[in-house]
Amino acid sequence: MVCHTAIIEGEDSESRLTEMLEEMGSEYPAPEAALQYSTVMAEMSWSRPRIRNEEEMKNSITLAFVTDIHAGELIEYRPGKEALGLLGRFVKHINGLDVDAVIELGDRVNNVDGSHDYAVQEQVQAVLCHLAPPRFSLSGNHDVHYVTKEDNQQITGMPSSYYSSIVSNFRLIFIDTADPVQGHCGGYVSAPQLEWLKGQLSMDMLPTLVFGHHPITVQNQEGNPFFADLPGEEKIGNSGEVLEVLLNGKNVKTYFNGHVHWFYASMEQSVRSFSIPSLLESYPLKEHAPGRYALATISHEGTVDLSLHTLCPMRTLGRIVL
Ligand SMILES: [Fe+2]
Repeated sequence: MVCHTAIIEGEDSESRLTEMLEEMGSEYPAPEAALQYSTVMAEMSWSRPRIRNEEEMKNSITLAFVTDIHAGELIEYRPGKEALGLLGRFVKHINGLDVDAVIELGDRVNNVDGSHDYAVQEQVQAVLCHLAPPRFSLSGNHDVHYVTKEDNQQITGMPSSYYSSIVSNFRLIFIDTADPVQGHCGGYVSAPQLEWLKGQLSMDMLPTLVFGHHPITVQNQEGNPFFADLPGEEKIGNSGEVLEVLLNGKNVKTYFNGHVHWFYASMEQSVRSFSIPSLLESYPLKEHAPGRYALATISHEGTVDLSLHTLCPMRTLGRIVL
């Protein structure tokens, strides 16, 4: 089953999601003791976005982020079989929160071959379509390894491989950083897409948030087990060009990405930049993925109040205001 928006509401949705996950044979990774406290943790204020007053509601947006879901087979330190269970847990938790939109930043699949990847991508969508808030996806390097961009769009409901939308008086722009993939897994943004981006950023003065799979910044990857030995492939190959376009845009506030599987925050002149950690990354183990995700409230002025969380066990890791 594939759907592009939440079509099932309320308690019925929750029980159908649980049934569906059982049918898919998703392995639920949580130890008993961790699960016991999850309901309590979900109710605690630090597991939720900061409560906004009426004025803040008018001048901000709250987003939930999930990225690098890597469903499918176990590859390296990504236990793909745990992904759907964790994602189902994410969906149930987010549906109890007050968020304006959910952003999924790519690498939905541990790529094996075309038919495997297509089927797994459909399973990921079957879970994500139980989200109550609007959800926006973009593709990462693993999504397009064996599955075409057109098929990724058809499965996820993306109107194109790069596109924009307006939510809560913010312009949200989703770029395709696998345009094309460079080397093993590095990113790139093509000249035609850069022209399109320039046009998007000159339209009006709406505060603008940009999302892509690969980082836009040069990050120190020392200690990152996947990118320390792949210099340059942790980011968009022509990140300097993309950053220049963002800096010359009318009102770009922030760039969010996945890909590096860990958290990173920086300020590039006027543009804030955040790497959201992977849902499934389990290094140095090959099981018991913690289920990382993030919540962020961004003001019209651009201040980002971002918190990091895990689902299994449910914990809050910290918060940054930048
Ligand atoms: Fe990834």
